[in-house]
Amino acid sequence: MGAPNDLNAFWMPFTANRQFKKNPRMFVAADGMYYTTADGRKVLDGTAGLWCCNAGHNQPRITEAVSKQLTELDYAPAFQMGHPKAFELANRLVDMAPDGIDHVFYTNSGSEAVETALKIAIAYHRAKGEGTRTRLIGRERGYHGVNFGGISVGGIGPNRKAFGNLLAGVDHMPHTHIPENVFTRGQPEHGAYLADELERIVALGDASNIAAVIVEPMAGSTGVLLPPKGYLDRLRAITKKHGILLIFDEVITGFGRLGSAFGATHYGVTPDMMTTAKGLTNGVIPMGAVLASAEIHDAFMQGDEGMIELFHGYTYSGNPVASAAGLATLSTYQEDGLFENARDLAPYWEDAIHALKGLPHVIDIRNEGLIGAVELAPMSGKPTKRAFQAFLDAYDDGLLIRTTGDIIALSPPLIMDKGHIDELFGKLTDVLKNLD
Ligand SMILES: Cc1ncc(COP(=O)(O)O)c(C=O)c1O
Repeated sequence: MGAPNDLNAFWMPFTANRQFKKNPRMFVAADGMYYTTADGRKVLDGTAGLWCCNAGHNQPRITEAVSKQLTELDYAPAFQMGHPKAFELANRLVDMAPDGIDHVFYTNSGSEAVETALKIAIAYHRAKGEGTRTRLIGRERGYHGVNFGGISVGGIGPNRKAFGNLLAGVDHMPHTHIPENVFTRGQPEHGAYLADELERIVALGDASNIAAVIVEPMAGSTGVLLPPKGYLDRLRAITKKHGILLIFDEVITGFGRLGSAFGATHYGVTPDMMTTAKGLTNGVIPMGAVLASAEIHDAFMQGDEGMIELFHGYTYSGNPVASAAGLATLSTYQEDGLFENARDLAPYWEDAIHALKGLPHVIDIRNEGLIGAVELAPMSGKPTKRAFQAFLDAYDDGLLIRTTGDIIALSPPLIMDKGHIDELFGKLTDVLKNLD
């Protein structure tokens, strides 16, 4: 049996376990924009945890709502039973979503939201009598969580290579990160034509076999890859033309990251389904949700009313405590004007991040809303090492950043102010200046 402080038993996710356990980095508290480390240091949260604590830490409304819910109704069965808050939250989500997105299916994570959306897409076509539409189309460098559907439509080699055959019947479009767009502020000019690759895939596989296309409106986890101007509109037009569903994976772009409720509202393109998680509950209690159009939902609402329409769901779908956290989170976003804050601060954020141009190893900088990335030239023969060293140095300097490959990704809580932006980029400048 392990001693209480033995680190051995916990097999940590997406972590270099042996390296971490030799030199652990532990947070023991958090408030507002800052974490506190086990050795009592304050660390500015430059990543909203894992892109999820959009309302900052220790948000009193959320904490109180969760505590209250725990004493009122801790759990209710999710199948053939309900509780009011899950319905209330669904209504609030639908109010925030673009017109036409009218229904919510709860999950417990972004990965589960993705699996759910893919399954709904296939089952929807079948319900409409088009059961041959089973193929799924993702995109290179896409991240859609870690379950089998998600890694199959996802486009990150290391997340796929150890896991066998994955799902059959998946195609990938090319990613949109092209050299013409380096050091672009906001949405890049070049690359809308990359959406036409979908036509090539359709020509090859035939639309009658294709269920859905899934993309992140802005790819976060692979290093903040922004959609070129016109790209998402073109994807929408092509999918519509061929009767293919368009799914936006909004697990990062949902809940204000770009300065609007969703990527769909920010970019003005309405998909057929949206997957969400993370900022839905401010990361406090696990919860995800698929938001779906009335057309999709209604296709299932046929036949005998006593029959279950969709054989899918989770023990914790719409869990009462998660629902309470979600409601308090959405109220916080609204009452504190956090999406507006993100929008107002975006130009200052943009200037601050682009001021890093010219620092050692910096080969690209990109930004939108309150998200950004600084791409570093890899160390020769040692990809990822340079950015990871920046992560360690920043942590020592009191700043939490996230790295993916040799890209530094930044996505702070939306409660931040200009002072926090100055602090973040002041520290990051020092780190970059001293990096090998
Ligand atoms: C776009 C996207 N989809 C899905 C996921 C998976 O979410 P989770 O880690 O909650 O399963 C993530 C997580 O980063 C994400 O960014």
